[in-house]
Amino acid sequence: MVSGGKLVVGNWKMNSSPAADGALVGQLLRSAGSFGAASAVVCPPFIAIPAVAEMVAGSPIAVGAQNVHWEEKGAFTGEISPSMLRNYSVTYAIVGHSERRALFGETDAAVARRFWAAVGASIVPILCVGESGEERNLGVQNAIVESQLRAVLRAGEAGSPGKFAVAYEPIWAIGTGKSASAADAQAMHRHLRSVVEDVFGEGIAKRTPLLYGGSVSRHGAADLFAEKDIDGALVGGASLVAGEFLAIISAAAN
Ligand code: 13P
Repeated sequence: MVSGGKLVVGNWKMNSSPAADGALVGQLLRSAGSFGAASAVVCPPFIAIPAVAEMVAGSPIAVGAQNVHWEEKGAFTGEISPSMLRNYSVTYAIVGHSERRALFGETDAAVARRFWAAVGASIVPILCVGESGEERNLGVQNAIVESQLRAVLRAGEAGSPGKFAVAYEPIWAIGTGKSASAADAQAMHRHLRSVVEDVFGEGIAKRTPLLYGGSVSRHGAADLFAEKDIDGALVGGASLVAGEFLAIISAAAN
């Protein structure tokens, strides 16, 4: 477990409107005094970031992006650079989400560039890795996830790793209502920690938050957080409902 409390990140995906975001963030802010040692991050769609950042300014809630480009500026239609995010107080960025990989063709190489650009801009990248249901049935999940992780960490061999997080998100658990069991998630997290240790050493492995994502809800959250190597959660659907997200943060705070 990393020191400094659990990290609970809400990935809103492509869900946002000024009214809905205002109501959701308003409710989160009203309970922000009870987060305890837990840290909370919300990742709205890019277009909603300025408004959300303004709402949470000075509160314990941080803002993350759902992706980040590796260049600072130029002819990259549809992309957002690290410095643009920094201008709006963004301190985290999800990279390599399985939806980006599957639906938008993002390769390990592209994910690695995004990851290291974020590190270079002092944005904490949250690197998503995870196997498909078929891969788990074949028993190759550890190898798949390890290769996704090594592809990105190796790409930065020359540089300093800075601060980063890894989110284990088994594809079969995303949006299905079927979370991985706490024991299976813990087994994978332990493996991930050993890979980070192999690449960067024990000190960095110990302080790198390893998040679980995939149908996290108020029901299973406490069991997940009780596991030694589960340092937080990357929450999709439940992060859009204030009461649900707050219940998960509360499980993380205890
Ligand atoms: P759900 O929590 O909706 O399964 O989504 C998980 C996820 O993809 C978070 O990035």
